[in-house]
Amino acid sequence: MASRKPKVIVTRKLPDAVETRMRELFDAELNLDDAPMSPDALAAALGRADVLATTITDRLDEGVISQAGPRLKLIANFGVGVDHIDLAAAHSRGIFVTNTPGVLTEDTADLTMGLILASTRRVVEGAAVLQAGEFRGWNPTWMLGRRLRGKRLGIVGMGRIGQALARRARAFGLAIHYHNRKPVSSVISEELEATYWESLDQMLARMDIVSVNCPHTPGTYHLLSARRLRLLQPHAFIVNTARGEIIDEAALAGMLERNEIAGAGLDVFEHEPSVNPKLLKLKNVVLLPHMSSATIETRLEMGDKVVINIRTWMDGHKPPDRVIPEFL
Ligand code: DGY
Repeated sequence: MASRKPKVIVTRKLPDAVETRMRELFDAELNLDDAPMSPDALAAALGRADVLATTITDRLDEGVISQAGPRLKLIANFGVGVDHIDLAAAHSRGIFVTNTPGVLTEDTADLTMGLILASTRRVVEGAAVLQAGEFRGWNPTWMLGRRLRGKRLGIVGMGRIGQALARRARAFGLAIHYHNRKPVSSVISEELEATYWESLDQMLARMDIVSVNCPHTPGTYHLLSARRLRLLQPHAFIVNTARGEIIDEAALAGMLERNEIAGAGLDVFEHEPSVNPKLLKLKNVVLLPHMSSATIETRLEMGDKVVINIRTWMDGHKPPDRVIPEFL
């Protein structure tokens, strides 16, 4: 990298402190009105930037990436999931892609635990009754939920967030089960007293609560397909703070509507920002607007990671949080 400051185009409004640091270090072009960029605007930005600082709302498919100019060397994503970026297309053009792993693990696990509690204990349903002025006093048989202690939690994807969730869940007395491409190390498995299921089908059929914590890749698209969802027990709850595309949302909405499973806590949706209209009408769901990493602390740390990745590249080194395409 030459001694000039790199041109960094930032596609969304980031926390003030992060933007200020970017202006200090880079020739940063900020998105002050925070409107997501159109594919044309993204392509134009790719054509004239050294670095594009992206978020999940930017769809960088092969067509868009093919319009990158010769200067473009780094796509520094503000977020851990990179399923909106065609990694192979970037790689074939010699463009690094980085993300922000680690810093959102704990907050995402907190909110996942929150969704487990909120869905099994009907927290949102109860709050809505109260706010509608319909609370008629304590009732021995009303607003009954399900106890967590002693139940089985099946975690789909035992990476950082899955493990952080497992630690919390154990404190609530849940038994930890998981499905992953491979078992976690014996140290972690012993710490969590976790049971590994090589077969996702077999695990799903035996869990009281299922939490989706794996990344969205071509291999995990509709991993929880209509067929697999039908394996769940009628009293089971499902929680997703990973990516909507991992669950067949239409099939899930149908099952929830017919009370074929007990409930769901969803922070992510298959066609964000749209949400299946059936889900919006149901009482047995807790729906959140993709906010599991939304704390001031995490968003600042995500910004720090973006800055470090750009800075390291600018200094002539490989950025620390490179995402390597799976085929490599
Ligand atoms: C992430 O970091 O992947 C969050 O879901 C926001 O994009």
